[in-house]
Formats: sequence, C-alpha cells, structure tokens
Amino acid sequence: MKRLGILISGRGSNFEAIADHVASGALDAEIAVVIANRPEARGLATARARGLNAVCLPSKGLDREVYDQSVVAELQRNHVDLVCLAGFMRLLSARFIRAFPGRILNIHPSLLPAFPGLDAQHQALTHGVKISGCTVHFVDEDLDAGPIVLQAAVPVLDDDTADTLSARILEQEHRIYSEAIALVLSGRYRIEGRRVLPAR
Ligand code: GAR
Repeated sequence: MKRLGILISGRGSNFEAIADHVASGALDAEIAVVIANRPEARGLATARARGLNAVCLPSKGLDREVYDQSVVAELQRNHVDLVCLAGFMRLLSARFIRAFPGRILNIHPSLLPAFPGLDAQHQALTHGVKISGCTVHFVDEDLDAGPIVLQAAVPVLDDDTADTLSARILEQEHRIYSEAIALVLSGRYRIEGRRVLPAR
C-alpha cells in the first residue's frame, strides 16, 4: 500500500477529505504521517482524534533549510511515497523538492496560473473573473507553478464574497485532491513539458 505524508498549517479540511476517502476505500493508500508546522493547527487535533500519526514540527523562527531538513527526515522515517501539501503555507526549499522528485503535490484554490500565492479566492473576486476553481499540481521550485494534474472550475456568482466563493471552491478541492492522488499513485500518467497526460 502506498504511503502518504500530509503537510498542513491550519484547518486541515483537505487532509480530512483525503482521510475520509482513505477510510471509505475510495482512495487506495494509507496516511503514514500528518505533519503540521503550527502547534495550533486544527488539523493536527483532528488527525490525532482519528488515531493517525500526527507530528508537530513548529517552523517559527527556524531557517528554511534547517526546518525543511527536519520535515524531510520525518517523511523518510515514515517511508512516505507521496507528499501532499494541504494548506501548508510555506515555500519548500530546493533540497526538500529534490528529496521527493515528482512526488510532491499541492492544492491551490484558483485555476492556475491565475492567482498564485495568498488569498487566491479574494484575488479572483477583485479581478472580476466569472469562473475560478482549484488546481492540484506537482510542486517544483517556483510558487504554485508545477505541472497541473487536475483542475475543477467553479462559477463566480454576482453576490459572492470571498467566503462564499471559497466554500464552493473547497467542495471541489475535497473531490479533486483524492482523484489526483489516486492518479499519481497509479503511475498511469506521463509528463510532457508541462502537460500531465495519460500513460501510453
Ligand atoms: C485550501 O483552500 C487550500 O487550497 C489553500 O488553503 C486552504 C487550506 O484549507 N491553499 C493555498 O492557498 C496554498 N497556496 P484546509 O486547511 O482546510 O485544507
């Protein structure tokens, strides 16, 4: 069984959706470790309540290289096959990315390459787009930039606030993240340039 390492910083609803799909058998994988970089991350308590291996590695005040090395060590100790960033609000160092080549996924609440970075849903509203959504992509050394595995479109409604739009995008996040994980774990894809395509 393939082993997932899930990295969170806060609420952890994407982590929970993945855990639900694992528990129901819809996603054939196991959660080897959940790592939070903030002790107050709600997802950490949820992971513990579910009886999962939940580890807090506080990042505050630490040098990025030093911190990332400790996370990589924890992931390796748990024999993680695929790293899933789920609301992990930190940039990864090149060394981290090289430790898991092609084996780190991220979810972002916009249709990338539109609105990378923080507050993507707010950025979409302010820009006035009529359609936004979410993206699961491989992580490379640039912010929110690696090859795209899956996306889902979400219409922006005239009376949307950042909260209402975020809530509808989140429903899609919870659906496509597990689908993308299943695809990547299956190995039935190839990457041509930036394109993630079905394996031949
Ligand atoms: C999610 O909307 C995720 O897409 C976003 O943070 C939220 C985390 O929620 N990630 C980013 O903006 C990354 N740039 P969660 O903790 O409930 O999963």
